[in-house]
Amino acid sequence: MMDPSSVWSFLFFTLLSLGNCSETNRQKKDNAFEIYKKLFEVKRKDQINALNNLIELNDVNQQYKIIDIMLKGLFKVLEDSRAVLIAAGVQPDGPFPVDEKIKDVENSAFFGDVVLRFPKIVHHYFDRNSNWNNLIRWGIGFCNLSGIFDDGPHSQLLGLMSQELGISEKSPDYRNPFRNENMEFLPNTDAFQKALKEEEKRRRKEEKRKEIRKGPRITRSRSEL
Ligand SMILES: *[C@@H]1O[C@H](CO)[C@@H](O)[C@H](O)[C@H]1NC(C)=O
Repeated sequence: MMDPSSVWSFLFFTLLSLGNCSETNRQKKDNAFEIYKKLFEVKRKDQINALNNLIELNDVNQQYKIIDIMLKGLFKVLEDSRAVLIAAGVQPDGPFPVDEKIKDVENSAFFGDVVLRFPKIVHHYFDRNSNWNNLIRWGIGFCNLSGIFDDGPHSQLLGLMSQELGISEKSPDYRNPFRNENMEFLPNTDAFQKALKEEEKRRRKEEKRKEIRKGPRITRSRSEL
């Protein structure tokens, strides 16, 4: 199997060479969009397989830790991509771009997969992070305008995730399609409550350590000025 980075370089150069041809530029760009949609499907299958493995772990503590790391990485990528796209003046509803946008689309979709399968864990981290909230609002809006999600198997995803996250209002018939697949949904099981408490403790310790490390350094650099 191709590893992800070789898929990226393949994709990048394919799109680059398509985009460079000026003659039938419009048509070429449509082709690029179609090619991208196919590759997107492949990538999505890998991501969903990974999440199914995570569900099968059946260990809330492990799931917490893995999702914590995963979300930090995912939002870092989203933040970087947003900066690149805004700096480049890329419009989501403009011509299909030959750049990093691809990562955004996939990461926003992937975040949707995570939040629908692990809503409690994701809410635990997401609800207290206004920066993530801003980022994903932007990501969902961008994806929505890009047309990648307009039809096909993922057309529901953006709507479902924004309802689950509280970004758009929950419609009365909103229902998480993964409700029955995961022990996450068993109401207040002991294991889950215990894991939640342990996770809280771990986080608090981590944050305290960070504050201690940060504090003196800021003071010092100020007095050096
Ligand atoms: C996507 O855009 C349409 C049209 O502007 C809007 O009605 C819909 O609510 C948007 N969906 C999401 C998930 O933001």
